[in-house]
Amino acid sequence: MDKRTFIKTGLIGVAAFYASGFTAKGLNPLYSLKPRKNKDGFIQPPLPYAFDALEPYIDTETMKIHYSKLHAAYTMKFNDITRQLGISSKPAREILSEVSKYTELLRNNGGGYLNHLLFWNVLSPNGGGMPEGKLHDAIIGSFGSFDNFKSQFDTAARSVFGSGWAWLIFSEGKLKITATQDQDNPIMDISKDKGFPILCLDVWEHAYYLKYQNRRTDYINAFWNIVNWDFASKRYDLALRRKMA
Ligand SMILES: [Fe+2]
Repeated sequence: MDKRTFIKTGLIGVAAFYASGFTAKGLNPLYSLKPRKNKDGFIQPPLPYAFDALEPYIDTETMKIHYSKLHAAYTMKFNDITRQLGISSKPAREILSEVSKYTELLRNNGGGYLNHLLFWNVLSPNGGGMPEGKLHDAIIGSFGSFDNFKSQFDTAARSVFGSGWAWLIFSEGKLKITATQDQDNPIMDISKDKGFPILCLDVWEHAYYLKYQNRRTDYINAFWNIVNWDFASKRYDLALRRKMA
């Protein structure tokens, strides 16, 4: 192999490695929901696109407030509380998996921190359409058709009373749709449906009120245009790998 071919092959290999969800330090922490930390604690990673990138489905002002004010506040409070409790060295996922041991304040802010971390990556300006490959087959296998899946997810999202989230999770070897109140999530030990989150939708009014006011259904319909199926597929691959482990 000459030098040029060697470099080219190497670059293709690196690109494929990153595209598979890995970084030089291992699996991209966003896919595994293992956010990196710095000296101040859990970090709020940068939004993976511009504030206006999800227009016209989610408006710029909502994204600015949602990310810069609300998610930032959950991150700061989660760090404060975990420091006070002396558990800041634990992974966020581990803390939430035993959240019944802690206060409601930690439950709300820890959930708010991790749920939004996932949510930003579930969305993409290049999203929409349908998943491919294993996730597509699993959705058809679990729900009969993609339309049935969407319809059940929509119902879960519409049915949340007040504030909460709709979820597609991997639970006991199959895909399942569920919903949680406030900032609870299916990782938490207090959740009625526990599982590995693949997809989520924030149905707090702060996620849509500026553009959609009380029309939550319009917001849910818009969501399908910006779902990052590539990200969801990588989460599903992770779920399968964990099951095998
Ligand atoms: Fe939110």
